[in-house]
Amino acid sequence: MTSPVLSVENIDVFYGASQILFGVGLEVRAGQTMALLGRNGAGKSTTMKAIAGMAAPRKGHVQFLGHDVTGRKPYVMARQGLAFVPEDRQVFPDHTVQDNLIIAAKKGPQGQDDWPLKRIYEVFPLLEPLKARAAGRLSGGEQQMLAIARALMGNPVMLLLDEPSEGLAPIIVARIGTLLKQLRGIGATVLIAEQNMHFCLGIASDAVVIDKGQIVYRDTIAGLKANKEVRSRYLAM
Ligand SMILES: Nc1ncnc2c1ncn2[C@@H]1O[C@H](COP(=O)(O)OP(=O)(O)OP(=O)(O)O)[C@@H](O)[C@H]1O
Ligand SMILES: [Mg+2]
Repeated sequence: MTSPVLSVENIDVFYGASQILFGVGLEVRAGQTMALLGRNGAGKSTTMKAIAGMAAPRKGHVQFLGHDVTGRKPYVMARQGLAFVPEDRQVFPDHTVQDNLIIAAKKGPQGQDDWPLKRIYEVFPLLEPLKARAAGRLSGGEQQMLAIARALMGNPVMLLLDEPSEGLAPIIVARIGTLLKQLRGIGATVLIAEQNMHFCLGIASDAVVIDKGQIVYRDTIAGLKANKEVRSRYLAM
């Protein structure tokens, strides 16, 4: 087995005096797409933020590519090859789609240059006709695609996607799903936080379920799908 790209070990995270994460642990290996599933307020985004350097754990460790990166700043994590697409997507609304992409262009930590603009438009054919449009005028789904495309422009080693299907129409969700399957097919390493398990079927190979700030279940996504009890208890479906 290959060593993990990301390993979160037993982390506690607080916002002020309130503890949000309790000993959270998970691992993602090279080429794996892992789903972090849980209901509203379960602690998915906080886990993502702790990995991306936006919420320092008070206990436990985050290892990335074999190095302890616990509490590193977001720009340090980005430079080491971690791309985070937050829930609110954060595109530059007044810049065009193409400028949003170009601003994000950089080589990977090992000089990787796998995502020239031409390839981005091949993988995201819906973005090319929109390239001159201000990003703030895109639909939610288009902005989500732009946010993922922008993350890839930085040639990351790993992608963290926080609820990419949230608030989008079913047809757009299906398109984003196709795109993430494509990324899986080319061996991308991805951690995807979702409430929607169905969205993750066919995208993620494995899943961890978080509830009230604790990991309560780990399995293959097929195993989770077959486990009605866990689904109804922690995922409200
Ligand atoms: N900045 C903050 N200050 C205090 N509490 C916070 C803060 N951000 C989140 N929380 C609390 O932490 C808990 C976990 O929130 P988090 O955003 O990690 O959940 P989530 O699983 O991402 O939920 P959602 O599906 O709604 O995005 C919630 O109870 C939330 O109210
Ligand atoms: Mg969230």
